Amino acid sequence: MAYGHIVLTACILFQYFDVVRSWQAVVVKPSVFVRSGSSAELTCTYDTHASEGFTLEWRYTAPGTPAFQAKRVRRTAVFRVSYNKPPHLLTSMSCLTQVLYYNGRLYWVNSWEGRMALVQNPPVSGVASVRIISAETSDTGLYICEVTNPNDWSGSGQGLINLTVLTPPSVPVCQLQGNPYTGNDVTLSCHSSHGLPTPIYSWHREPNAAPLPPDSFIEDQRTGSLMLHNLSEAFAGTYTCKASNELGQAACSVTLRMTCEYNTHSSNIAEY
Ligand SMILES: *[C@@H]1O[C@H](CO)[C@@H](O)[C@H](O)[C@H]1NC(C)=O
Ligand SMILES: *[C@@H]1O[C@H](CO)[C@@H](O)[C@H](O)[C@H]1NC(C)=O
Repeated sequence: MAYGHIVLTACILFQYFDVVRSWQAVVVKPSVFVRSGSSAELTCTYDTHASEGFTLEWRYTAPGTPAFQAKRVRRTAVFRVSYNKPPHLLTSMSCLTQVLYYNGRLYWVNSWEGRMALVQNPPVSGVASVRIISAETSDTGLYICEVTNPNDWSGSGQGLINLTVLTPPSVPVCQLQGNPYTGNDVTLSCHSSHGLPTPIYSWHREPNAAPLPPDSFIEDQRTGSLMLHNLSEAFAGTYTCKASNELGQAACSVTLRMTCEYNTHSSNIAEY
């Protein structure tokens, strides 16, 4: 147990010093927010003189992947680079190589060619930045800019960039849950599958609709639900939900048609 503790401490210290060293050699803009469809520049500069064996690698990890996992994969990847394996071998579940500049050659991996451009090409004069030409929601995640310069290990390192692609809410789906009988409760739900920042939802009735009785509804703008309590004819009509965030809004509607409880129940009663 004590041994495990020492190993853990050593790992943490190693990670810690690794980060400090990286920050000195490679400097990134750590947080980038862009609108979907616009170009996203991932800024990364380094302070070393590119020479024999200089390697620049950009990798992507999906949101939710711990950064230390990406670091571990990085070490494996660097090792492989020194064996000059083709770039497609540098991929793993959690961490995907996108761009590799090695031995004076540029490799684009997967579908990134044509979607991404180097800001400086060849990237050998201190600027390793890339530009995503038209950012998509699925581009959100962590990007690792890594520079390896065997002739100057103190000039090697990596930087982590957190890219968030903001997007207006997608057209929400409106649904009615429950049976709209007189005296019953029902819930109207509304949800956009996409949208960042997370949309908020608001429900409205038609402009000429009669007001609902007081305390007869509960609206949750975060989840998009509207609970209607103790239904009566006054509740009938069309309800519109608007999903909105800083980038835009979208709406859907649901029509509530009151059903007579008596009719439906009478068929049940006939069974007894
Ligand atoms: C990346 O940025 C987003 C938006 O600010 C944030 O929610 C997320 O936690 C960040 N991820 C990491 C790993 O820092
Ligand atoms: C439900 O609404 C009716 C009028 O439509 C009212 O008479 C009744 O007291 C209400 N019941 C409850 C439990 O609020």
